[in-house]
Amino acid sequence: MTSKRIKLACLLIKKKKLDVLIVSRLSNVRYLCGYSGSNGMLVIAPPKAYFLTDFRYKVQARKEVKNCQVVIAERELIGEFVKLQCFRKKVKVGFESAFMTVKMCDKIKELIPKANMVPVSNIIESLSVVKDAGEITKIKRAVKIADIVFGDILKLVKPGVKERDLALEMSYRMIKLGADGPAFDFIVASGQRSSMPHGRAADRKLRKGDFVTFDFGCFYNGYASDITRTIVLGKANARQKKIYNIVLKAQLEAISSVRPQMPAKELDKVARDIINKEGYGDNFGHGLGHGLGLEVHDNPVLNPRSQDILVEGNVVTIEPGIYIPAWGGVRIEDDVVVTKNGCRVLSKSPKNLIEL
Ligand code: GLY
Ligand code: MN
Repeated sequence: MTSKRIKLACLLIKKKKLDVLIVSRLSNVRYLCGYSGSNGMLVIAPPKAYFLTDFRYKVQARKEVKNCQVVIAERELIGEFVKLQCFRKKVKVGFESAFMTVKMCDKIKELIPKANMVPVSNIIESLSVVKDAGEITKIKRAVKIADIVFGDILKLVKPGVKERDLALEMSYRMIKLGADGPAFDFIVASGQRSSMPHGRAADRKLRKGDFVTFDFGCFYNGYASDITRTIVLGKANARQKKIYNIVLKAQLEAISSVRPQMPAKELDKVARDIINKEGYGDNFGHGLGHGLGLEVHDNPVLNPRSQDILVEGNVVTIEPGIYIPAWGGVRIEDDVVVTKNGCRVLSKSPKNLIEL
């Protein structure tokens, strides 16, 4: 599998008329060669690929990295470039502009004056945006773990419990179930704090009548899940029910509208139109969703400005929300795989308004 990915990357590199591609985004490195450590880089000079890391990852690299010549750097990884065959002649070198610092780029130019450095983007991402069966299996497991933990954690949700304690417990339980770790800082945002789309779990204690938004997920074998549910502590009032049902309607309608070849911005519009029509357009200030994979926020991007087109094998989140300052907010987020005719929803946590 990995050798196939490197071969495909080589084809793209040649198509872009590059001689070399430096892959510095770690998730792209992992996608191409299997390395899961935290310092590593690929230099692909078709048909050859070099993987560079440091002493700390020597054993791990020998175990994980496939189809590359492994180079253990003495100091900085880019310091090793001078020793690589591919840099001995005049070369056009692509680098991932969003994932390399100006300082690093300048250093490479200084070390290899023959390198013509060309900023590129989305080369490896154009491959990884379509998930294969093995990747979908891992995402499904990451989603399943998150679903199980959410179901269990609801038993602990009571007045007086701190948001942070719930987030911590969720994280612990996910790891116990085999997750690599949490995929991001969990959001447990209660009461008025639920009006903050990214209200990270804080010291606030839950109170009766609160909306509580949970946004959680884990990595499993490198692949992420990302789910959001909003519940009410106690009986929901009429306004809470109304806002919840608008978000739910927008979310369900978006899910049933997913089609391969659909522009991502059109899917965003399906949900946005419903929320706009109810008069809450200004309260839905983020995109409908994002790709999910080795990164939590991956391609394709689902928002009104997106130029992405959905294709079979994409895994995306669908997560509309309404946030009303000084009152509260609701977001509902599922993870779905785009299929031949629509999509398959992976996350199974219930979406009827839960009143605890
Ligand atoms: N689930 C929240 C986010 O994707 O930013
Ligand atoms: Mn998300």
